[in-house]
Amino acid sequence: MANQEAHRLYGGVVPEVASRAHIANIVPVVDLALSEAGVHKNDISAVAFTRGPGLLGSLVVGTSFAKAFALSHNLPLIEVNHMQAHVLAHFATSSAPTFPFLCLTVSGGHTQIVRVDDYLEMEVIGETLDDAAGEAFDKAGKMLGLGYPAGPEIDRLARAGSPLFEFPEPVVPGLNYSFSGLKTAILYFLRDQTKVNPAFIEENLADICASVQQSIVTILLKKLRKAAKQAGINQIALAGGVSANSGLRSALESMGKKEGWQTYVPAFEYCTDNAAMIGIAGYYKYLRSDFCGHDAAPYARGFRGA
Ligand code: KG4
Ligand code: ZN
Repeated sequence: MANQEAHRLYGGVVPEVASRAHIANIVPVVDLALSEAGVHKNDISAVAFTRGPGLLGSLVVGTSFAKAFALSHNLPLIEVNHMQAHVLAHFATSSAPTFPFLCLTVSGGHTQIVRVDDYLEMEVIGETLDDAAGEAFDKAGKMLGLGYPAGPEIDRLARAGSPLFEFPEPVVPGLNYSFSGLKTAILYFLRDQTKVNPAFIEENLADICASVQQSIVTILLKKLRKAAKQAGINQIALAGGVSANSGLRSALESMGKKEGWQTYVPAFEYCTDNAAMIGIAGYYKYLRSDFCGHDAAPYARGFRGA
């Protein structure tokens, strides 16, 4: 995998830096993937690419490369929705959920409860109205002086702490989420505490991380339980970068035991963004000859099910 060091340096993803990195890396990364997989270009049956949602500049690079590769090898093109691919990452391993299931898809840009009736039949039944769960982790981490992305670091630090501090839970109708209030509550809390004790963050870092993590996990699971009850579904899955969070994984497991759910969490390498999940989504579309034209243009936002 081409590394993300530049994003760490800037404390976030700078779109232009990301596009330039894609241009520089796409050919060597594809070459390396083919050689590591022991696959020759002539053995390929179709080219799947991420059409969106995401950063447009990076999507343009991937889409253009996929078209050029498909044209030059006379292969069909398959467009893949990034969020749908996160859900389908479950089918990379043998212990996949059975249909219908609910999937809480939590990443840096999205927080969605998805009802999945078949590989390519999905409906978003709840989503965030503002920040995504991963964004809440990353923004809280920034306030705490942690690097980007902060989710994994908060997860690690939280293991040594206790959730001693409480933040108010948002009141959001239906199955939707909101994380912007939590972000503000953490900001004011840290501001007030550091006024009294300038070393407050340093001295309480593990407990603050455990508290932030617990708040996010509690918000996420409450709506998931409501969704499961409403839908009458007990096959419950997690997906997306935040599903790598150990607090979320263990809280899901204990809630699952209480609620009589069968729970599914992807292997770590299939939680955060990865090419395998795009390949899997492409595979199911290939089986249905669900190809796209060479006029397919990337999109920055949007996924209302497929
Ligand atoms: O799915 P993903 O790799 O990229 C997007 O599609 O956005 O998700 C990235 C997000 C980041 O916000 C990152 O902080 C978060 O996933 N993340 C975590 C953990 N690992 C990654 N958040 C909490 N705990 C983790 N262990
Ligand atoms: Zn993602």
